[in-house]
Amino acid sequence: MSIPLVDVRAQYAPLRSAILERFAGVLDSGHFILGPNVRDFEHEAAAYLGTSQTVGVANGTDAIALVLDTLGIGSGDEVICPAFTFYATVEPLLHRGAVPVFCDIDGLTLNLDTADVAARVTERTKAIIAVHLFGRPAPLDELPEGIPVIEDAAQAFGARLGDRRVGSIGRAATFSFFPTKNLFALGDGGLVATSDDELADTVRRLRFHGSRDKQTFELAGYNSRLDELQAAVLRLFLQELDGWNEARREAAARYGELGLGDLVELPEDEPGHVYHMYVVRSPERDRVLERLKAEAIGCASYYSRPLHLQPALAFLGHEPGSLPETERAAAENLALPLWAGIEAADQERVVDVISEVFGARPALSGRAGSAHAAS
Ligand SMILES: Cc1ncc(COP(=O)(O)O)c(C=O)c1O
Repeated sequence: MSIPLVDVRAQYAPLRSAILERFAGVLDSGHFILGPNVRDFEHEAAAYLGTSQTVGVANGTDAIALVLDTLGIGSGDEVICPAFTFYATVEPLLHRGAVPVFCDIDGLTLNLDTADVAARVTERTKAIIAVHLFGRPAPLDELPEGIPVIEDAAQAFGARLGDRRVGSIGRAATFSFFPTKNLFALGDGGLVATSDDELADTVRRLRFHGSRDKQTFELAGYNSRLDELQAAVLRLFLQELDGWNEARREAAARYGELGLGDLVELPEDEPGHVYHMYVVRSPERDRVLERLKAEAIGCASYYSRPLHLQPALAFLGHEPGSLPETERAAAENLALPLWAGIEAADQERVVDVISEVFGARPALSGRAGSAHAAS
């Protein structure tokens, strides 16, 4: 029996009739673009995150692009960012002629190495993009002061750093609602969050052709809007988010209880981590990956060619070996099945298959009553 890496349908299946009701409401209203659902979702998301404003946009990539424009980041400006992230974190920099300055990551958290960030600051540094990778909050409090921080929180809706929500800490934050994210839409969607009202006002204009009123065009903007159907569903899903994130945390803890840590290196837990992905590490990653695939178990190695070694960024002149922790993580990381509501039996099967690769049975503390428990 196959096990997917992520089962989004299992998460929204219990909400089917509520989703259809929301869709019907939008159909009946005849209002599809920038209507009451987008407006209300923006207020509800801001209240949840603890920011004064949020602005719904078409996707997480545009959210980054619009924030960069609002901060006036353009040709020759340097922006410090990790190379162990999705390409969309830096792609909008390239469109603007801005220069991604890649720093290494902390091998334990896979987030920014803040000492390396500090070492790469120059007088041309205009911003730092901190990615909350795989749902783990990045160490924003340890970043150099005085440089605007953009939180790329695409993978971390609901994560917390102490008692603050991720997305409420930097100058601005960006979210994606791609259907596998912790808070997801049934299509594309994105959000900018900030407590800088002027910044929010500019993003709001940029998402609609640089205009407030469709008559006067003040800026060269975009057509980048969150639509009413997605906003209607996002309002419903936002109410479920804390429960979903708690279920993700429980599933992550279960892998530890099943003894997976005897076989591979587990992600270290911290209370604000929302496990967008459950990512383990092993020098034997490729062997484990092959075996899981052969057993029809969903798994993935993320960013196996990190950004500093991508063809589109070759102009920066990075050689292999220039970001050692990034490259080690790229070679060793492995995402295993996890979603809100994954069955314990599926997780047991994942651990069983991995144990066969190593020819070793882990200590099965969480598997009371299973056939292996006594061995
Ligand atoms: C870290 C990160 N940044 C940005 C994005 C871009 O989001 P979107 O796909 O909504 O444009 C993603 C989405 O996968 C992401 O994971």
